[in-house]
Amino acid sequence: MIIILFGAPGVGKGTQAQILARNLGIAHLSTGDAFRTAIANKTEIGLLAQSYVDAGDLVPDSVTAKIVQEAMAASDFQNGCILDGFPRTQQQAAALDEILAAAHKHIHKVVNLEVDNETIVSRLMARGRQDDTKEIIQNRLNVYQQETAPLVEHYLHRGLLTNVNGIGTVEEVSNRILKAVQTA
Ligand code: AP5
Ligand code: MG
Repeated sequence: MIIILFGAPGVGKGTQAQILARNLGIAHLSTGDAFRTAIANKTEIGLLAQSYVDAGDLVPDSVTAKIVQEAMAASDFQNGCILDGFPRTQQQAAALDEILAAAHKHIHKVVNLEVDNETIVSRLMARGRQDDTKEIIQNRLNVYQQETAPLVEHYLHRGLLTNVNGIGTVEEVSNRILKAVQTA
């Protein structure tokens, strides 16, 4: 089962992906976490990604698709996975379709978490990751609007997307997500 957790920075993709992956017994792939690990380990991909992640810009699609393709080939991904933070561009969506077609898999559901920008900024400022400064958060939100938000229409047209209110306690939101995922 392939589920995409979609939404702007700070809507709770990572928090909810972990819970959902545990509930469904499938893997969790966060491209952001994968880049941060690669950067910490100074791998070739990490060195390529660093300046983009630091600025809150998107890492080039070719690099991102490679990291996803490698992760999804691993054995713990055979039962499916929660994709958190991927795809974020039309090209990434097309790359995902190719990866899944080759593996005879398909997207079960795209869960679009919705949270207003004011709440997002206060959540991220309270977390304080290295890219959680006011300026970089604003850039991440702009990049999301320009490059990623158009995918909402893309997946809506394909009949795959469900909007889920991301405001409330973590538990309230995860119950909503579980309901959305279990609805055909
Ligand atoms: P990424 O790591 O994906 O960051 P992001 O999309 O900006 O999202 P966040 O991880 O900040 O937020 P989240 O939605 O996961 O929310 P979280 O659960 O943490 O990407 C980072 C960078 O990597 C990008 O800028 C880019 O450079 C690169 N990158 C990644 N993917 C890429 C791709 N596909 N293509 C190109 N480049 C890519 O929650 C946020 C905070 O809120 C936490 O502190 C959490 O505890 C709290 N919280 C969560 N839920 C609730 C709740 N219900 N109530 C109160 N607080 C809550
Ligand atoms: Mg995250």
